[in-house]
Amino acid sequence: MNLSVPRRVTAAAALAALALAGLTGTSAAAGQAAAVTPPDIPLANVKQHLADLQSIANANGGNRAHGRTGYKASIDFVKAKLDAAGYTTTLQTFTSSGATGYNLIADWPGGDPNQVLMTGAHLDSVTAGPGINDNGSGSAAILETALAVSRAQLQPTKHLRFAWWGAEELGLIGSKYYVNNLPTTERSKISGYLNFDMIGSPNPGYFVYDDDPTLEQTFKDYFAGLGIPTEIETEGDGRSDHAPFKNVGIPVGGLFSGADYIKTAAQAQKWGGTSGQAFDRCYHASCDTTANINDTALDRNADAIAYAIWSLSTGTTPPAGTVFENTADVAVPDNGAAVTSSVDVTGITGNAPSTLKVGVDIVHTYIGDLVVDLVAPDGSVYNLSNRAGGSTDNINTTYTVNASSEVANGTWKLRVQDKASIDTGYINGFKLTFP
Ligand code: TRP
Ligand code: ZN
Ligand code: CA
Repeated sequence: MNLSVPRRVTAAAALAALALAGLTGTSAAAGQAAAVTPPDIPLANVKQHLADLQSIANANGGNRAHGRTGYKASIDFVKAKLDAAGYTTTLQTFTSSGATGYNLIADWPGGDPNQVLMTGAHLDSVTAGPGINDNGSGSAAILETALAVSRAQLQPTKHLRFAWWGAEELGLIGSKYYVNNLPTTERSKISGYLNFDMIGSPNPGYFVYDDDPTLEQTFKDYFAGLGIPTEIETEGDGRSDHAPFKNVGIPVGGLFSGADYIKTAAQAQKWGGTSGQAFDRCYHASCDTTANINDTALDRNADAIAYAIWSLSTGTTPPAGTVFENTADVAVPDNGAAVTSSVDVTGITGNAPSTLKVGVDIVHTYIGDLVVDLVAPDGSVYNLSNRAGGSTDNINTTYTVNASSEVANGTWKLRVQDKASIDTGYINGFKLTFP
């Protein structure tokens, strides 16, 4: 019988109470914004943005390419929505191939100016077509996420900045220009850059960029929650606007649903779709229209963007002594299978501490039978006790674990296995304390 649910107590509860009372931010102790549940991004809104970008291409010679009227019309379209939603927008101009190019930068007022979470997508198409998957999809999804930030009147801990890049298709020209013209002090304030280029491919895969472990894990956690397997993005590293950021040492992350590589049988097995066919048969072609979008992929990826932005920018640095605890008893079968007790850690920005306190309370008559591990949300295992202590009764102790390479948020488990017969017992309690 489960008489106790995992609960979050002490300092965190006090902070939540302050948040309920609308008092966060009023004192130094409660100076962090409370964590907020990420929204479900409405697919219909994202698709409407794509229909509007398609109309812009139709009215401008069939494309939205750098130096063409369809590009500037795309920029004006996005900028008007952001201005109306309360963003501070900046149009950055540059010259490439003899034509004026534009980056649109949109800042959401507030948040820590020394911790900027930046999110970007290229808005230009190739000249061959309207560029709806490449990259209306990323552009529309981050636009709708930015509008969701406004609808929520989000007050994140970090400062949020969004960018729509020009002339990506000519060699990442716009994003390189932005990074090259950013003073070093401003660069160092960008704690992460998230890139979205092609996220509604018609024969989709679910690829996560492999760069910063925390950003990568955040996206993986989202898809794991949906039960959807992901793979690491390998279709050409450095082929999109995250590359200039990565090159100056800014942590980058992102999502991708595939371009002209071919979906394998194994990939079709796990994701559906058609093996032996490109993820996007209309890549850089005139048929990259609104018909060239897989709604499910676009929907999931848009929701993943919101999940990442919310969880990376709105968490707390937990007050010292924040506890997550599970006091439900879990029987440990004699000389049997491993059992676990879980706690869900939520609302914390970034990684777990290097001095995570792991409280272990196991009632047992021979602790030399027991292998006791802490299992992090991503499955990493930290051994706490390995058949030590012989015939001693009970483990009731606090271990200090360097968990700084683990994302804090997620389900942590205490795993206990009894590896010898006769003596038995149970997990009495499991608790994580943040220093
Ligand atoms: N716009 C990119 C390009 O034309 C599309 C692309 C290909 C991509 N491979 C990628 C984007 C890998 C991100 C990651 O090259
Ligand atoms: Zn692209
Ligand atoms: Ca035993």
